[in-house]
Amino acid sequence: MTTAQTSRSSSNLKDNSLNDSIAILDFGSQYSQLIARRIRELNVFSELLHYSISAEELKRLNPRGIILSGGPNSVYDKNAPKCDPDIWKLGLPVLGVCYGMQLMAQELGGIVEPSKVREFGRAMLTVIHHGLLFKGMDSSIDSWMSHGDSVVGLPSGFRAVACTMDTPTAAVADEERGFYGVQFHPEVVHTKGGQNIIRNFVADVAGCSQNWNMSMFLESAIQEVRERVGEKRVLLALSGGVDSSTLAFLLHRAIGDQLSCMFIDQGFMRKNEPEWLVNKFAHEFHINVQYVDARSRFINKLAGVIDPEDKRKVIGTEFIRVFEEESKKLGPFDYLAQGTLYPDVIESSVSTVDPATGERVAVKIKSHHNVGGLPKDLQFKLVEPFSKLFKDEVRRLALELEVPEGIRERHPFPGPGLAIRVLGEVTPERLNTLRDADWIVREEVKAHGLYKQVWQAFAVLLPTKSVGVMGDQRTYENQVVIRAVTSEDGMTADWARLPYDLLDAISRRIVNEVSGVNRVVYDITSKPPATIEWE
Ligand code: XMP
Repeated sequence: MTTAQTSRSSSNLKDNSLNDSIAILDFGSQYSQLIARRIRELNVFSELLHYSISAEELKRLNPRGIILSGGPNSVYDKNAPKCDPDIWKLGLPVLGVCYGMQLMAQELGGIVEPSKVREFGRAMLTVIHHGLLFKGMDSSIDSWMSHGDSVVGLPSGFRAVACTMDTPTAAVADEERGFYGVQFHPEVVHTKGGQNIIRNFVADVAGCSQNWNMSMFLESAIQEVRERVGEKRVLLALSGGVDSSTLAFLLHRAIGDQLSCMFIDQGFMRKNEPEWLVNKFAHEFHINVQYVDARSRFINKLAGVIDPEDKRKVIGTEFIRVFEEESKKLGPFDYLAQGTLYPDVIESSVSTVDPATGERVAVKIKSHHNVGGLPKDLQFKLVEPFSKLFKDEVRRLALELEVPEGIRERHPFPGPGLAIRVLGEVTPERLNTLRDADWIVREEVKAHGLYKQVWQAFAVLLPTKSVGVMGDQRTYENQVVIRAVTSEDGMTADWARLPYDLLDAISRRIVNEVSGVNRVVYDITSKPPATIEWE
C-alpha cells in the first residue's frame, strides 16, 4: 500500500485515556471478539490486539488490565503464538483464558501437557477459593470447556482456585501479582455467571470504572473527524443501510456541508427505496446527497449472467467503475468515508491461522465484502469512525444521533441487492416480480409485529416454474421462497419460526397480488449448512 493510497488511523485505546480500558491479546480463538463485546457490555472500552504487540506499545496504550484470549494451538507447538515476555513485568493484572492461561502458566515456569481426558462442552466447576475472581458467586458453576491440554505444574506464586472432575487446575491465581487464569470460557453464554467473572476481573481486579458509553464515543469520534479532515471535503457512498446512514449523520454533525453523499442506484433496491431514501436525506435531514441513476448500466452488464459468483463480480466491478466516474464529476475529494466495522478489521488477525501449520488461511464462501464495497487502492484517504464498533453498537450510536427508527432498525441488505435474490438471469421483469413479493413479505412481517425480532425476512425468486391451478385453469408459473432468519451477527443463523398465520397471509397475498407467481415455499434451513442469502 503506498502512502498516497488508503490509510487508517491507529489504535483507539490511547484516545480513550479518560476511560479505563482492557487490552485483549488475540491468540486466534473463535471467541476472542466475544470477550471484547462482553467487556463493552460492562461499559468498559476494550480492544482486540495482535498477540505479538510489544510490552512497550501496550504500555503506551495504557490499559488497566490485559486478557489473553484462547486459541487453536497448543502452547508447546513449534509455531505456537507467544506474547512479549516483558508483558509480565508491566505491573498490570492479566487474565488468561484457555490457551491464554496455559501460555501464562508455561511462560512463568509452569508445565502444560496434553490432558488425559479432553474436555469439550459443559463441565461443573467447583470453586476452591473465591478471591476477587469468583467474588459473589456460587461454589458450583456450570462452565463451558474446550481444551485438550492442561496445566499440570503451576508456576511459583500460583495456586488452583477452581477445579472440575477431570481438571484440577480449571482456574488458577497469583493474587499478589493480579495474574489469573481460567481453563473454561467465561465469555460464552453456556458458562453460567461468566459475565460476573469478567466483571470481577475488569472492575475489581483491574479497577476499571464502568463509564464508557455511546455518547462519549460520539463526542470523541466527532472530534477526531474534525481534526483529521480539517477544511477538506469528504465523500461517502450511501447505500441506505444502517451503517452508511449513521455514518452520514455523524459526519454531517462533525463537518456539515464538507460532506457529500453519493447514492448509486444499481436498480436492485427494494420497492420505492431509492426515492424514499434520497428524499429523506435531501429534504428531511438536509444532508448533501447526489442520486446517480445507473440502473440501465447494471442490468445490461448482467444479461446472460447466471453464476452467483459471476453476478457478484460483474456488479462489484461496475459499482467501482460508476463510483470512480461519478466521484470525479463531483470532486475533487480528499477523503472517503467508509462504514467499516470492527469485525471487518479484526478478521484479518490471527484468527485465520491454521492450527496445524501456523499458516494464514482464508476460506472464501462468497465474495461478500468486495461487492457493493470499494477497493482499498482508491486515491483517497480513509475516514472510518466505526472501525472499532460492533454492529449493535452502531445501532446504539444511531439512536444517539437521532437517526429515525425506519433507518436504524433496518434489516441488513446485501450490496448486490435483489440481483442475488433473483436466481438465474436477472431481468427487469423478474426483478419487478421479486420486488412485489418482497414488499408483501416485509409488510406482513411488520404488520404481525415481528420485524424487529428477525434478523432478515425477504423473498427469493427461483429460476424454475411449477404447475398450479387458478380458477379452473392450469398455470405454469414462478415460485417464490420466503427466507426469514434469526441471528446475532449474520455469521450463524436459524430459520425463524414464523407463525403459520403470518406465513399463510404472505403466501395468499403473493399468489393473489404478484402476477406470474403460483407457489410460495418456506426455507427451513439454518446457517450453517446453508447461508442466509441464496447466492
Ligand atoms: P450469508 O448469505 O453469507 O449472509 O449468510 C450473511 C449476511 O451478509 C449479508 N450479505 C451481504 N452484505 N454485501 C453486503 O454488504 C454483500 O455482498 C452481502 N452478501 C450477503 C446477508 O444479507 C446477511 O445478512
